[in-house]
Amino acid sequence: MKTLSNSQTQVEIGSITEGSLSSILQAYEIHNLIIIVDENTHDCCLEYMITSFPELKRAEVILLPVGEENKVMEVCFQVWQAFTEYGFGRKDLVINLGGGVVTDMGGFIASIFKRGLKFINIPTSLLGMVDAAIGGKTGIDLDNFKNQLGTFSHPTHVFIDPIFLSTLPGEEIFNGYAEMLKHALIKDQELWSKIRTIHSEEELTTKEIIWTSVKIKNDIVEGDPSENGERKVLNFGHTIGHALESYFLDKTPISHGHAVALGMCAESFISMKREWISKEDFTDIETTITASFPMISLNADEVSAVISLMYQDKKNESGKILGSLLNGIGSCLYDIELSEKEIGESLFHLSLLANPMN
Ligand SMILES: NC(=O)c1ccc[n+]([C@@H]2O[C@H](COP(=O)([O-])OP(=O)(O)OC[C@H]3O[C@@H](n4cnc5c(N)ncnc54)[C@H](O)[C@@H]3O)[C@@H](O)[C@H]2O)c1
Repeated sequence: MKTLSNSQTQVEIGSITEGSLSSILQAYEIHNLIIIVDENTHDCCLEYMITSFPELKRAEVILLPVGEENKVMEVCFQVWQAFTEYGFGRKDLVINLGGGVVTDMGGFIASIFKRGLKFINIPTSLLGMVDAAIGGKTGIDLDNFKNQLGTFSHPTHVFIDPIFLSTLPGEEIFNGYAEMLKHALIKDQELWSKIRTIHSEEELTTKEIIWTSVKIKNDIVEGDPSENGERKVLNFGHTIGHALESYFLDKTPISHGHAVALGMCAESFISMKREWISKEDFTDIETTITASFPMISLNADEVSAVISLMYQDKKNESGKILGSLLNGIGSCLYDIELSEKEIGESLFHLSLLANPMN
C-alpha cells in the first residue's frame, strides 16, 4: 500500500482491503453511509465493496444514470430530494464509487447538501484514478458547458485500487491514458519517454504507472489547491478539448479522455507554430496520440462553433481565450492568450489528420 497526503486528502493506492477504509467506516458506526454509484459501477463494483466491507451492508445506495449527459442539475435535485427523505445529515458519509462522472457529481452533491457532507472517492475508471477523483474539483455541466457549476471540495480520502479496472471496457482504459500522457507532457520528460510507447492495457494499469501519474497531479494540487496559478498547467489540452467535448455532447458524444487527447494534439500544434516546442517533439506527440485516439474532421462552420464555446471556458479573463501551452516536453506555461486564428489552424490540422487525402 502506498500513501500520499496533501493538506486536505489522504490518497491510498493498493488493495483497498488492506488500507484504512475499514477503520473509517467503523468511525461512522452510528451515522449513515451513502454509496453513490452509476448503473455500471452498481453492477461491476458494488458487490466487491459490500463483500469486502460488511459495514457497507447497511449503506443506502444512490444510483445515478450513466454518462456525461447525465452530469446535470436535474439529477442532483433528485438525489438531494432522496437525501432529504432519508434524513441524511452532516455527520453522515458519502462514498462515491465510480468514474469521473460519479466522483465529480457525487462530490458536488455532497459538498452542497446542508453546506457539506464529508465524502470519500473510490475511483473505478483509470481516468478517475489518475485524475478526476483527486484534487478536490467537483462539478456538473450546464447547457452543454462543461463543469459550469461546481465547488472546490476535497474528499477526505481517495482509495485507488486497480482491481476495479478488470471490468472497465478497453476504450475507457485509453481515456485514462490521455490524462496520463498529459501529466507526463506537462511535468515529466522521463515518464513521457516511457509512457508514449505503451499500447497494452496491462502495462497502463500497473500500480506503479498509476502511482507516478497520481503523484504528479497530487504535487501540483498541493502547491495550488484553488487553481490561482501553477495548477492551471493541468488544463493543458482542455481549452480545445472541453470545447470539442461540449460541441459533440448533443450530437455524437466523444469521451472526456478522447477530447483531451485531441485538445493536446491541437494545443501542441500551436506550441510548435510558436516555436515553443520543436517539430520533432510535436511529431512525437501527434504520432503518440493518433496511435491511440481517432482524429475528427470539422468544417469551417464547426470550427467557428467550437471556438465560440471556448469563450465560456472558466480559465478565461477579460473576454480573452486563455490556455496552457507546452514550452518543452515536461514543461508547461499557463494563462497564455490563444488567438482565434491559431485555434482555427490547429483544428484544421486535426481535420487533415482525420482526412489525410484532402
Ligand atoms: N474533477 C476533476 O479534476 C476531473 C478531472 C478529469 C476529468 N473529470 C471528469 O471526469 C469525467 C470523465 O470520467 P470517466 O472517463 O471516468 O467517465 P465515466 O465516469 O463516465 O466512466 C466511463 C464509463 O466507464 C464506466 N465504468 C467506470 N468504472 C467502471 C468499472 N470499474 N467497470 C465497468 N465500467 C465502469 C462508467 O459507468 C462509464 O460508462 C468527465 O465528466 C470529466 O469532466 C474531472
